Order: sequence, then structure tokens, then C-alpha cells
Amino acid sequence: MTNTNSGALPRAITARVVDAVLKKGRNLDAAFAEAEVDKLEPRDQAFVRALSYGTLRNHYRNRKLIALLVARPIRNRDSVITALLSVGLFALIESKRPDYAVVSATVGAVTQLERVSMRGLVNAVLRRFLREREGLLAAVSKDKEAGYQHPQWLIEKLQVDWPRDWEDIIAAGNKQAPMWVRINTKQHEPALWLDRLQHTGVAATTPVSTMPGAVLLDAPLMVQELPGFSLGDCSVQDLASQLAAHFLQAGPGMRVLDACAAPGGKATHVLELCPDIKELVAVDKSEQRLSRVQENLERLGFDNKDQVTLIEGDALDPEKWWKESRDKAGFDRILVDAPCSATGVIRRHPDIRFLRRTGDISSLVETQLQMLEKLWPLLKPGGWLLYSTCSVLRAENEAVIAEFLARRSDAYERQLPVKMPEEARGQTEHGLQLLPGQADNDGFYYALLERLPV
Ligand SMILES: C[S@@+](CC[C@H](N)C(=O)[O-])C[C@H]1O[C@@H](n2cnc3c(N)ncnc32)[C@H](O)[C@@H]1O
Repeated sequence: MTNTNSGALPRAITARVVDAVLKKGRNLDAAFAEAEVDKLEPRDQAFVRALSYGTLRNHYRNRKLIALLVARPIRNRDSVITALLSVGLFALIESKRPDYAVVSATVGAVTQLERVSMRGLVNAVLRRFLREREGLLAAVSKDKEAGYQHPQWLIEKLQVDWPRDWEDIIAAGNKQAPMWVRINTKQHEPALWLDRLQHTGVAATTPVSTMPGAVLLDAPLMVQELPGFSLGDCSVQDLASQLAAHFLQAGPGMRVLDACAAPGGKATHVLELCPDIKELVAVDKSEQRLSRVQENLERLGFDNKDQVTLIEGDALDPEKWWKESRDKAGFDRILVDAPCSATGVIRRHPDIRFLRRTGDISSLVETQLQMLEKLWPLLKPGGWLLYSTCSVLRAENEAVIAEFLARRSDAYERQLPVKMPEEARGQTEHGLQLLPGQADNDGFYYALLERLPV
């Protein structure tokens, strides 16, 4: 595909991406792939991505505006035009481009989408918005979903779970996530790597004194621009996620299981912090995602087959892949980075607010508890299991741990060596809840359990 100067083509592609998320329930990565965004010129790729993210962040408001602006509801089979109007409204409200250029490119996109007869509608809606802008924005701001840009069910759950913090959590979800880098501290002195980065003209800091290898960039950049990225000198990983390997404290000679390992952010960090572990078994049920673990292991130089075993398997069915004969004593450390609602990372994945449903939570909780039950017997007495999610919902976090502790008399909760500033932590009875945005981190939950000898 080629670039068009009018900007109509990238807007049409963005509308297809947004429509795929909203109508077909695709996640953003799948929607980008389906719309072949990677075949665009690099400049247009970046534009489509930014516009897709921005539109989805603002679609609850935009769809209310659209409802007020159209005389008759747009037919379901023309949902791509609703998506395009949302793209246009986002640009008119949030971007610095001149209004006439936005309207012209958006109307041009209707032709690209082969809906020529709807050019008049798109033109009229956007122009009416420009004429009545203040009143319309004031009217929709009274609507809860439009005002908070989150679904009603999630707003309500956050209000119940975090009566003091819910508005901050939502505000963090509506922001653009920063880029965090993890320095491979096994190979590099953090200060020296930071110097190298700053010499390339990139501004960055290490804001958490207890984690000198965690670097916050002032502005995101392409990974290839990070010094030594392809040589394994660093990885891209949010601050909250970087805590897992520190909490696990794997030591020389230990056997470690990462039961939901892909794409391998935490597993590779475990190896960086302790390259002398005896074995790392990395399991994931997605073959495609498991290949990303392999790529990351190779990039970071940890592809020793005697030390690392990758298994495509189901953490809910370990009998199928755990060869007890190999080491009857089990694992010294288990990481269960469980599938979850991902409500702590909405700022990174704005599609989540449309893809998750309230009904998903109870089945996720069931899976999370079952995963703990099934993996627990693989842990050696005296061994530690770290449970983590990128959720901010108590049901998936401390309630799961409370229930598991109630069921297992041989499970004991260990204190986590907290490394995060006070303001990033939510009040919990069990484990550590990190709230999103407070220290520029994602929302995450951790609980560390020890298996007692019985
Ligand atoms: C939150 S991601 C893990 C991220 C990873 N720990 C990291 O740090 O890069 C959750 C992963 O769990 C995997 N998963 C979901 N259900 C699973 C199951 N029943 N068994 C094994 N893996 C599962 C998904 O494919 C996904 O890759």
C-alpha cells in the first residue's frame, strides 16, 4: 500500500481497525494484522496506530456524540462508518490539525471504504459537530460512560473495590502509557547503560531508587533505537511487571516453573537475575506466543537447552506435561502469571474496555483458582509460588488468594519485599496491589505463597 497525501487512506484503515475491535471483538494487535497495517509506509503505520489508540480511548464519548449528531441510527452493516466518524471526532477534538483538513481527509476515507453514498452523511455530521461543539461536549459529559471513557460495569466494580482510588484508576486508564525499559543488570551497570542511552539524545530516568535497572523513557521510541537491544542489553517491560523476578528470588541450583510464560518478560528476567538456576520450565498454552519466548531467550542469550525447557501445555492440566520422573522433588519456585481481566493495563490496551464483559470475571476467577490448585502439588515443600495478575479487581486478586489459603492448610503467605512507593499501593489484606499510574506503573497484583511441609 502507498501513502496518500490527503490522509484519507490511513483514516480508512484506522476505521477498519476500530470497527474490527468494536464489532468483531478482535484485540488491537489482531485488528492491525487483519488490516495489514504493517504494509503501510512507516510514517503511516505510526499514524494509524496512534489514531486507533486515541479513537478507542475516546470512543465511549464519541459514540454518544454520534448518536446525537445523526438523524437516524447508522445501520449495523455500515458500522465501519460509525468507526470512521469516531476517528474523525477524535481528531477534531484532540489533535492539533486544522479542522478543515480533518473533515476533508475523513470524508475522503468514505470513498476508500467503498461507501461513496455516505460521504454526505459523514461531512454533515462532522460539520454539525464543529458548529455545536461546546453544547454537544457539555451534554455528553453528563453520561457516565462518556465522561469516564470506561464501561458502566467496570466503573461500578472499581467504585466498590477502590472507593478512595477509583477515579485515579480510571484517569490512569485513559492516559497514554509510558515506555519502561529493563536493563540487563547481569551484563551492564545501570548508570553506564543510561549514559549510553542519553548519549543518543534520549531523555530517561530511573525513578525508583530500589530498582536501578528500571528505566522510564521521557517519550516512547522504537526498540531498535535502544542501545544494544538486539544484543540483549535491555528489554521493554513495565515497572510493575519487573517486580516479579525480584519477588521470586530464584537461587543457584533451583528448578523454576513459569506456568503462563509467553512472551517471556518475567521468565527471561528470572534468568538475568540468577543465571545459575538449574532449570527453567516455561509453559504456555499458545504455540504462537511460545515462539516469542524462544525469540526473547535467543536475543538475551539464554537458549541453553539443558537449562531451559519450553512446553506448549495447559497449566490447568499439568499431568499431561509434567514428567514427574524427571525430578520427583518438584519445583523450588513457581510463577503463576495468570490469565486475567487485564483491567490494570487499560492504558496500554485501550481495546480491553470494549472486549471485557462483566460476566468474564467469574470464569476468570474459577480458572485462576483452579490453576493454583493444579500447580500447587508441583511445588516442593519449602518452595515458593508467586501469583500475579495485571488486574485491579479484588475478585481476581486477594479474594483468590484468601480462598486458596482457606482451602490449603499447607499454604502460607510470605511478606513481599515491597520496592514500590507508598502511593502506588492499594490497601489489601493479602498480597500487594499496585494501582495504575501512581508511580507511572501498570496496575498489577502479587501474592507470594510458601508450601509448608505437612
Ligand atoms: C499475562 S500473560 C503472561 C505474561 C508473561 N508471564 C510475561 O511476563 O511475559 C498470560 C499468558 O497465559 C497464557 N495462558 C492462558 N491460559 C493458560 C493455560 N491454561 N495454560 C497455560 N498458559 C495459559 C496465555 O497464552 C498468555 O500468554
